[in-house]
Amino acid sequence: MRDRPSATAENIALVRAHLTRLGLLDDVYAARFLRLSRRAVYRLIARWQATGLGRRAVYGLLARTRFFDELVRCGIEEGIRQIVIVGAGYDARAWRLATPGVRFFEIDHPATQARKRALAPDGGPTFLAADLAVESIEDVLQRAGVSSADPAVVLCEGLTHYFDESGVRRLLGSIAHRRCVGTVLGVDFGVRLEDQQRLLRAVLGVQRAILALRGEPILFALNAGDVPVFLESLGWSGVEVVTGRQLHKRFLAGTPLSKASDALGAYFASAVIE
Ligand SMILES: C[S@@+](CC[C@H](N)C(=O)[O-])C[C@H]1O[C@@H](n2cnc3c(N)ncnc32)[C@H](O)[C@@H]1O
Repeated sequence: MRDRPSATAENIALVRAHLTRLGLLDDVYAARFLRLSRRAVYRLIARWQATGLGRRAVYGLLARTRFFDELVRCGIEEGIRQIVIVGAGYDARAWRLATPGVRFFEIDHPATQARKRALAPDGGPTFLAADLAVESIEDVLQRAGVSSADPAVVLCEGLTHYFDESGVRRLLGSIAHRRCVGTVLGVDFGVRLEDQQRLLRAVLGVQRAILALRGEPILFALNAGDVPVFLESLGWSGVEVVTGRQLHKRFLAGTPLSKASDALGAYFASAVIE
């Protein structure tokens, strides 16, 4: 991976800042992570009436944020006291969802995490810098003091795309390998271009080519139907896959994205260690 902070993580912060301005999200921290050029975009899109794919991208990210938020909230309600956010980028859950007695841990590539730490407000998570393409997540969790005797909610949001298949297997399999019963995983997977209709395939193809040029190529994607077998083969149980249509019903009712669609570019899943 490149040695500069992740541009995709910052783009996501930009959309979260925009959604917060629209009153649809409570991420008041997102805007502070934007450099000047993205701040300009943030100001420019204030009156933007997104249509078509732009709208799907923006509200898809809202659904994604709400999906992962719900996993954290439910985990905390059920008594889980460790939240591990892998590939955290400019995620602000450690501040937004802070709860007495609950510890948040963030793991990210050193270049992105150093920038975040420099700009982050006080408090927040325990930060762990690691290149997970090189270092095993088991070692990182141990180094962080994440107890393997107690369950955790582990989020891998917008992350698996950037590892090849063996890297994704190693990452998700190593978390399961700790055999910490009650641990909950939240993860999303990019869609395979060959499974998409022509227009979306073309748009996603262009988007992925741009990402590759920026040094963040998409290396892994999965068909939704293959997600349960994939996660079960790594030691996870109780796999629930949520497609775009279901996400829409659960998290986007009442938003301007009136038509449910699977064309959100990703599938979301949760799983547990039993
Ligand atoms: C698309 S961003 C998602 C950020 C965040 N999860 C969110 O949804 O806002 C991908 C994140 O994964 C991190 N990442 C990618 N490859 C990584 C690696 N090999 N080791 C650690 N982190 C990595 C990037 O630094 C970046 O923060």
